[in-house]
Parts: sequence; C-alpha cells; structure tokens
Amino acid sequence: MAIEFRNVRKTYPDGTTAVEDFSLTIPSRSTTVFVGSSGCGNTTLLRMINRMVDATSGQVLIDGEDVGAIEPVALRRRIGYVMQNSGLLPHRTVIDNVATVPVLTGTPKAKAREQSMALLDRVGLDRSLAKRYPGQLSGGQQQRVGVARGLAADPNILLMDEPFGAVDPIVRDELQRELLRLQRELGKTVVFVTHDIDEAFLLGTQVVILKRGGVVAQIGTPAEILARPKDDFVADFIGAKRGKRRLTVEQQGDGDDLLLVDSSGYPAGLISAPGGRLEPVLSGGSDPKSRSVSNKTDQAGDA
Ligand SMILES: Nc1ncnc2c1ncn2[C@@H]1O[C@H](COP(=O)(O)OP(=O)(O)O)[C@@H](O)[C@H]1O
Ligand SMILES: [Mg+2]
Repeated sequence: MAIEFRNVRKTYPDGTTAVEDFSLTIPSRSTTVFVGSSGCGNTTLLRMINRMVDATSGQVLIDGEDVGAIEPVALRRRIGYVMQNSGLLPHRTVIDNVATVPVLTGTPKAKAREQSMALLDRVGLDRSLAKRYPGQLSGGQQQRVGVARGLAADPNILLMDEPFGAVDPIVRDELQRELLRLQRELGKTVVFVTHDIDEAFLLGTQVVILKRGGVVAQIGTPAEILARPKDDFVADFIGAKRGKRRLTVEQQGDGDDLLLVDSSGYPAGLISAPGGRLEPVLSGGSDPKSRSVSNKTDQAGDA
C-alpha cells in the first residue's frame, strides 16, 4: 500500500499551523522514517494518514484513494498504530489488549486470542506473559505488546510514533533490531517517527528530515543523505551525534561505495570510490581524514 501526501496543510483550531505544505510519496512495503526535532509536525503528519487528524487542505491518498472519503473508524481499524507509551489498556490483559481490534471487527474471541498468541511469538514475547496486565511488564515488553497490537488486524500499513522513545538505550537497540527482522518477514508499509537520526538511518529505507511546519529539509536513502547532505541544517542534524564515534568500513551493496559503520552498527557515513579511487564525501562535522576509521572487527567503541 503506497501512501501519497499532496500539498497537505494542517492548521489546528487555535490557529497553529503544524504542517504548511507537505508532499511526499511513501513507497509500498518499505520503511519511511520522519525525523525532526519536537514540534516539527511529525505526529500531525502521521495522524493524517489514519484520520486521527484531518488535513485542512490537500489530500492524503492510500493506493490512490483519498482517505477523506473513507470512514475514519474503518480506516483506523485497517491501519496499525503504535505509540511511544504503548497506549495499552491498563485493565485488560496482554492477550486481550492485542486482540482488541480483531474482536471489534467480528473475529470470534477464541480465534482472536489464538492469533494474538502467535503475534506474541512474532514480537519476541513469551506466551506466559499473555495473562499479565500491562503494569506487570517492563517498558520494553509493553512496547512489544504495542507492536503486536498494531499488527493484530494484519494491516498493510503500520504507523509508529516514536515507539521506542521511552525505553532505555539497550532495550531500544533490541527493539530496533526486532523491528528490522519483523519488517523483513512481513514487508509492511511502515511510517516511523523519531527524533533520533541514528534510529532513522538504521530503520529507514527512505528518510525524511523535517523542519518546523513539516517543511522537508531532505528526502533520501540513509546513504544518499549521508553522502550529500543538502545544506548546513541537514549536515548539522546528521553530524550532531557523530563526534566521538569509532567508525568501521563495510562494503555497501555491490557498488564501489563503502559504508562507514560505528561500533553499534549504525551507518555513519559513506565513502565513494569513483574509478576505484577512495574519496571521502562526508561533509559537515569534522574532517573525515581525521576520523578514527578502524578495522571492522574492532568492537571496542564508545558508542
Ligand atoms: N491539537 C492541537 N492543537 C493545537 N496545536 C497543536 C495540536 N497538536 C499539535 N499542535 C501543534 O502543532 C505543532 C506540531 O505538533 P506535532 O505534530 O505534535 O509535532 P511533533 O510530533 O513533531 O512534535 C506544534 O507546534 C504543536 O504545538
Ligand atoms: Mg510527536
């Protein structure tokens, strides 16, 4: 399911314009990440896809169909949504939380539970947790339940709004890797919001860097953005956290490009080799030649 934003604008009733004029095509069956600082309009953009927020003008289309013409409740039930604080219902067990939408849409309860059990496996949760309440789970486990619930209606589209923003870095790392694995298996159209550029580069096939008002600073693959940041804003944004990383080199695909990867596996830069000659193309931040580019087996970084 491809999603298209066409000149979308959102002004809230109090006069705040969260999104000025946003156009973007989100390809089917891949992950697009919106990344920007808080208040850029990320959540507003995401919610205009499932009509939790309606655009003031412009259109959002799913496979060419204007969402404005689709009944909002029906639309929301066929699009998965995962939030930062999991948004689980505290008085329902894990399994009933996951089964909520299928039950609402008429799946018999026993069948919905059985499918939900299989989803717990999918997201790496032990079935023994099924009868617990959300308050009896760790933050990371709650987020996994949130992902399972988002997948419960077997939606083609999964919206994720800073889903891993509130968990500690180690758990976050695990959840990111699980999502990559899951996405390889499921091939959903995932739209993911984060403030963290590392997370964006790790998870995104397409990365959209946003400024205030939903203004697009740059769109591209992680490698494209890393190789050619469009302006100083983007260079600063992607360079901000890179100062003290130890970088390693990995072959990128079957081309000549070499991808620089830090000790925790995050892409951090690209070296192009036109005609076989290595040429650092990193811009912004420090001089690439002064970077610590170490052997791939060196895992003793300080990331
Ligand atoms: N319901 C609302 N009413 C008025 N202003 C809002 C509302 N929701 C969000 N905004 C404003 O719109 C802007 C973008 O918000 P949001 O989409 O939540 O950004 P982000 O998710 O990137 O932090 C902010 O200035 C925010 O204060
Ligand atoms: Mg937000």
